[in-house]
Amino acid sequence: MSQLLIKGGHVLDPAAGVDGILDVLVAGERVVAVGENLDGGDRVLEARGKLVLPGFIDMHVHLREPGFEYKEDVASGGRAAVRGGFTAICCMPNTQPVMDNRTVVEFVRGQAARAGWARVYPVGAISKGLKGEELAEIADMRSAGIVGLSDDGKPVASTELMRLALQYAAPFDLPVISHAEDPTLSQDGVMHRGRVSSLLGLKGVPAEAESVMVARDLLLAGLTGGSLHIAHVSTAQSVELIAFYRSRGVRVTCEVTPHHLLLSDQAVRDTWYDTCTKVNPPLRSPDHVDALRRALREGLIDAIVTDHAPHHQDEKLVEYDYAQFGMVGLETAVSLVAGELVGKGVLDWPQVVALMSTHPARILGVEGGRLEAGGLADFTVIDPGQKVTVDPKDFVSKSRNTPFAGWQLTGAPWGTVVGGQVMMWEGTLTAR
Ligand code: DOR
Repeated sequence: MSQLLIKGGHVLDPAAGVDGILDVLVAGERVVAVGENLDGGDRVLEARGKLVLPGFIDMHVHLREPGFEYKEDVASGGRAAVRGGFTAICCMPNTQPVMDNRTVVEFVRGQAARAGWARVYPVGAISKGLKGEELAEIADMRSAGIVGLSDDGKPVASTELMRLALQYAAPFDLPVISHAEDPTLSQDGVMHRGRVSSLLGLKGVPAEAESVMVARDLLLAGLTGGSLHIAHVSTAQSVELIAFYRSRGVRVTCEVTPHHLLLSDQAVRDTWYDTCTKVNPPLRSPDHVDALRRALREGLIDAIVTDHAPHHQDEKLVEYDYAQFGMVGLETAVSLVAGELVGKGVLDWPQVVALMSTHPARILGVEGGRLEAGGLADFTVIDPGQKVTVDPKDFVSKSRNTPFAGWQLTGAPWGTVVGGQVMMWEGTLTAR
């Protein structure tokens, strides 16, 4: 069994009680020891000055395969994940055909195994064809390996269907991931409804389009005992509602994206309608952004996810009204979190480890999220001092739709190890 020794990094995992300048010894796909002055290793990697963390898990990624491989595929998305410091990703089911049955789940898992970059955990559709009419084959998909259920990209408009999903998923221990949006309130809005949308003359989506659905789903989770995970929270009311119902014992968790923490609706105006700022839920007004940052700092939000949503430039180089919703995130998230959240005192590294590794593993019920002897050898290694300027031309993703081009950030992914395999080191992908 081949051995790997990572020497002298700042190894940090609050959940495992590890925090110090230490070595990590790996045999095969497992950690053998974490300690001082360890020996061994067929391969020795120097990590002085770097943070060695349990592997980051991005719970919310669109890989686009099958059906939209011109935007991204399982291999290119897995490679972008590893390049961005993620050891595992969850892929959403809004593919073509929709991932609402065993065949598509097995296909995606097979593609991921063939590509061999990040671990890929499929999320199955709640409803057949994402139509919101009848439940997909949940038990069959569970035995094929899904880790959650979601109609992400579309809300489940029917309250009864959402109730059924939460009830049915509960004995399978599957979180139901809610894309919370009331379509009768969001209609054909393209950005947050407020002062800026009025000034720009663009149709707005009110904050309540999200929060009304969050309230509904919390009530349903309470009713059924199901486990609810709210995707990409973007409003102050959503986090207040989640905190309130959580304190009353409802099984709920939630996630937030870097873009909803770092950009407001003013970005649409400041960039002169750059369609890379068009995302669903929309970038909100600064008061919502402040509330999200406060909630994150206070531990009311469980995970940071990218909602990596690759689109071809032909789908973005059009009028704002016609552009597709979404932005890529896998290759910018770690630097944005390091530079803009840790660097500016919003979060510290132990909180980042919880938000990007420990909690996602727990919510999904997958192994990982721990850096300890006997655990999986999945690591995210970060150079906290490296200065980067975001340049979409450097992305290995097939798509480049980011509003962060040109941002100068401090902190970058340096190494990614998946199951003892070094996928990236010194910022360079391993040839495969
Ligand atoms: O902006 C978004 N894009 N939000 C979603 O919920 C779906 C995603 C996509 O699939 O492009």
